Amino acid sequence: MSIIYDNKEKLFYLHTRKTSYVMCVLSEKYLLHLYYGKKIDDFINDYENYPVSGELPWTPIDIGEYGLSTNLLPMEYPCYGSADFRTPAFHAEYENGSAVTKLEYSGYEIFAGKKHLEGLPATYVETEDEADTLEITLCDNLTGLKVVLSYTVFSELDIIAKSVRVKNDGNEKINIKSVLSSTTYLFDNEFEFVHLEGSWARERNIQKKPLINGIMQVDSKRVASSHYHSPFLALARPYATENQGEVYGFSLVYSGNHIEQVDVNEVDVARINVGINPFGFNWLLNAEEEFQAPEVVLTYSDKGFGEMSRRYHKLYRTRLVRGKYRDLERPVLINNWEATYFDFNEEKILSIAKKAKSVGVELMVLDDGWFGKRNSDNCSLGDWVVDRNKLPDGIESLAKKVSDLGMNFGLWFEPEMISEDSDLYRNHPDWCIHIKGRNRTPARNQLVLDLSRDDVRDYLVESVSKVLKYAPISYVKWDMNRNITEIGSDKLPSERQQELPHRYILGVYNVLERITSAFPDVLFEGCSGGGGRFDAGMLYYYPQYWTSDNTDAIERLFIQYGTSMVMPSSSMGAHISTVPNHQVERTTPLKTRGHVAMAGQFGYELDLNTLTDDEIELVKEQIIQYKEIREVVHKGEMYRLRNPFEGRNTSWEFVYKDTVVLMYYTIFARCMLGKTRVKLLGLDENKYYVEKNTQKRYSGSYLMNMGICFCDNKDFESNLLIFKEE
Ligand code: GLA
Repeated sequence: MSIIYDNKEKLFYLHTRKTSYVMCVLSEKYLLHLYYGKKIDDFINDYENYPVSGELPWTPIDIGEYGLSTNLLPMEYPCYGSADFRTPAFHAEYENGSAVTKLEYSGYEIFAGKKHLEGLPATYVETEDEADTLEITLCDNLTGLKVVLSYTVFSELDIIAKSVRVKNDGNEKINIKSVLSSTTYLFDNEFEFVHLEGSWARERNIQKKPLINGIMQVDSKRVASSHYHSPFLALARPYATENQGEVYGFSLVYSGNHIEQVDVNEVDVARINVGINPFGFNWLLNAEEEFQAPEVVLTYSDKGFGEMSRRYHKLYRTRLVRGKYRDLERPVLINNWEATYFDFNEEKILSIAKKAKSVGVELMVLDDGWFGKRNSDNCSLGDWVVDRNKLPDGIESLAKKVSDLGMNFGLWFEPEMISEDSDLYRNHPDWCIHIKGRNRTPARNQLVLDLSRDDVRDYLVESVSKVLKYAPISYVKWDMNRNITEIGSDKLPSERQQELPHRYILGVYNVLERITSAFPDVLFEGCSGGGGRFDAGMLYYYPQYWTSDNTDAIERLFIQYGTSMVMPSSSMGAHISTVPNHQVERTTPLKTRGHVAMAGQFGYELDLNTLTDDEIELVKEQIIQYKEIREVVHKGEMYRLRNPFEGRNTSWEFVYKDTVVLMYYTIFARCMLGKTRVKLLGLDENKYYVEKNTQKRYSGSYLMNMGICFCDNKDFESNLLIFKEE
């Protein structure tokens, strides 16, 4: 068992292979966090060794028997209203107007395996021996509030997944204002706050800043995890690198408003809070009702960011993503968006498909513009009925013609949205999120469907299913192109209006669950103006995600590098587009565009008919090469070797079974700076590896210690080397 309760010392040990998470029960009432980090086998429960003192002036002593104060104690699930003045994990209002909660320890349970989280995405086990779970119950005796803290220990993966369930066992209603999923502590402040910030077409850039005494946080209030801040935080020692130093990772499995916060107090103790953003959140819990907060996935590594990321990749690729495409190789696709935008007809799509088939592409994806009368982005969302002007014989016929070419067919939807100029809006103007009497602010000319409503969800499931049922469609790109304003629902009573942001996300999860389980053979790719909702929650429903609308190869190095902090390469949609690039007007070689896209789920986003014969030959070679390495990129361990944020080149490596794929990219050339030496990682130093092109034979120790040199003598050049273990 990876979870032990020491009844004598009142200690909970959560052990993974290399880490320990320790809590204790003080005075039979207070659940304290004692430690998270490198494995410690025997812990001493010595409260004199806590970084606290009850004697500090101005400190209310609320644990009288020990002369201690929650003001400085590492409360495992802090709530508002005691002597603990830091940001609480839990804050609620009771019928008498009080906002004070006092949670006391009431018991625990340990079991093998892991429970599902009702209505929410979460990591899972396939057999009970893959993980153990501890549930600790805390109660507020005055109000009957019960909080169950859940900890699942994936020992082999060095991961702890935490979540929180709240139950109202009292007779009165409770208004929850904040219910975070995890609070943990670090007992000094010598860490950097590392997060992924960005914007549309510049997703997940890595930022690092030293902690301050006070609050540092990232969040979203957009009812989407957003392009701007990913629901992820790492705390790393300032000297931590890719391969050494302490790094703590916190990844929230949720797609809505989130918060990742560090609150460092006057004695340099850092409290780390992660969960649903309390801003704009409220949840009314009537007697006997329950609320489930989402999961946070924690890992600690003393071997730098690389090890942290590889743990997330493995867990998310194998125990968060579900369905047959979790393990299946995904098709090489071509998408018509950047090739045609809205300007296409059946003939055009078939000509793109034919050419693509001739070079080895496996899936033709028809993007936006096939329905209603959508010739620009100003109409028809919600009317999922084919536009017969563009496709006179309908989607079924087009899909069939593409199948007859020997390719699969995929289709774009944006199911969560509604255009004001649509039949759906004309018939149901109340189906969008809005507030009566207020302006409905459009974004990209569209409004958002109110997915907190059953009738709207049913319509959505039905209208999408109808298209999928009647045509041979094997792939869906599920887009979502705006954030939510004027948050209000016609169907919710006034005291539940503030529940809408979370209810919306629950609604999204509900329709995704229904549609993906009804069509298990369809590969779903998520999208949100590129990677605007590319979060761990979404990977539960879609095995892959369109990483960014920015398809420029050089920009993609930054975006894919940052994304790989948490997300596996198997989940990153990456396509070759035309030059000059449509987002940044840069011209990069086709070869380099290929090598960048090969580090994810590979495809094309251009009309191959416009390429020269030489370029088509290269495209054929690219597809052959990708098919050769795609299992390695999909299932291999990823090692980041050169960081684009820190230099003039980038390199990463994938290792799977007997194959090693090394990719190297020059961002900009410099004169007379010598070659860049790249030392490989993750090999067996006692084995030999043969490079495919040159047939040169290298020992693992040579590749890892001497490395391979690359020249940075031309902008935007790239190399891809394949080594086979002997
Ligand atoms: C979003 C997506 C693009 C494309 C367009 C279509 O911006 O990110 O890939 O599908 O919508 O309107």
